Amino acid sequence: MNTPDPLEWTDALLLGYPAMDRLHEEFVAEVEALRSAPDDQLAARLSQVRDHLEAHFGQEDQWMRETEFPPRDCHIDEHAAVLNSVREVQALLAQGDHLQTCRGLADELARWFPGHADYLDSALAAWMFKRRHGGKPVVVRRTITSGEPTA
Ligand SMILES: [Fe+2]
Ligand SMILES: [Fe+2]
Repeated sequence: MNTPDPLEWTDALLLGYPAMDRLHEEFVAEVEALRSAPDDQLAARLSQVRDHLEAHFGQEDQWMRETEFPPRDCHIDEHAAVLNSVREVQALLAQGDHLQTCRGLADELARWFPGHADYLDSALAAWMFKRRHGGKPVVVRRTITSGEPTA
């Protein structure tokens, strides 16, 4: 499979619920740090990605459970599956010589995230926003070329 492009934090990834947007900005930074890490830093970077994911998914799972978000089960299951893969690769790395497996996982995380954010996180962000503010979030995204807010 082709290597995906670098994951970049842009306004296109904003979902309009700031607490979640902050987690996602951190996710993008952690995954790219893993992807660009030299071999001797892969294990340390992967451990940071795992710490991040435990906090990120833990927070989203908590929001879903506390607010009884209706379609929560598949979202929570997807988080668990991703975290399992990370833990498995971490265990392999600890045994030594699984650098390519780790780099494959890093690419896979970059490939996985935009779809997850689009389909699952965006619904949760809208739900959380609506509960707090009584309406759908208005997301102001700048166009990448002009840097100006779109109308
Ligand atoms: Fe998320
Ligand atoms: Fe999520």
